[in-house]
Amino acid sequence: MSSIVLFGPPGAGKGTQAARITESTGLPQVSTGDMLRAAVKNGTKTGIAAKGYMDAGKLVPDSIIIDLIRDRVKEPDAVNGLMFDGFPRTINQAEALATITEVSHVIAIEVPDSKIVERICGRYSCASCGAVFHDVFNPTTVQGVCDECGSTDMKRRADDNEATVNQRLNAYHQQTSPLADWYDSKGIFHRIDGDRAIDEITGDILKSLN
Ligand code: AP5
Repeated sequence: MSSIVLFGPPGAGKGTQAARITESTGLPQVSTGDMLRAAVKNGTKTGIAAKGYMDAGKLVPDSIIIDLIRDRVKEPDAVNGLMFDGFPRTINQAEALATITEVSHVIAIEVPDSKIVERICGRYSCASCGAVFHDVFNPTTVQGVCDECGSTDMKRRADDNEATVNQRLNAYHQQTSPLADWYDSKGIFHRIDGDRAIDEITGDILKSLN
């Protein structure tokens, strides 16, 4: 079992790229953000514990996240590894992951802070299949209709507002960015310029995985 980590600040394009490279890698995408939002929606114990942190743009405690991942890797589709999107986000989480699966590549999608608010505040996604779009940079071909599944049910995330994005960026710089050196020292860290066209970024990620 060997897994991939997609790393980067909020709005860097981790989810967008994960959806594009999952077919090539054959590894299922695991987004801790999506798992937490589902838990909040379903009113589970995890969701109730996580909601306040998410609304405030803070990281959810490591113990909650690590339990989610330990459960996820028990599912049959995890047998050949997973593609983690937004996990790990702290050294504690990375150390726990190292006891769960080998990580072959950490792909860091780098985007300057100055571009992040615009990206996140223009994001919307399909409520049916989860495909991610942007008002300006990546709109649906037909307004209001999902390119992937044809649904007309589009949604915006509760934490996609300027105040919360700035908190999420603070959390990234203080708690998550130190992981770059941690993974770099292991020789598996690949930096990708994420401030370019979506297709170019996908091409470079696939090259770095070969
Ligand atoms: P999470 O859901 O993981 O959010 P995030 O890391 O803040 O990342 P995003 O999902 O906002 O961005 P993305 O990089 O996937 O970008 P996307 O592809 O959508 O986490 C949410 C919260 O959950 C956290 O704040 C925390 O509370 C909690 N949490 C989750 N995991 C946790 C963990 N491990 N530990 C502790 N807490 C955790 O793209 C963004 C927009 O830009 C889209 O509209 C897209 O169309 C557009 N776009 C994409 N690429 C480009 C491009 N190249 N050019 C122009 N636009 C682009």
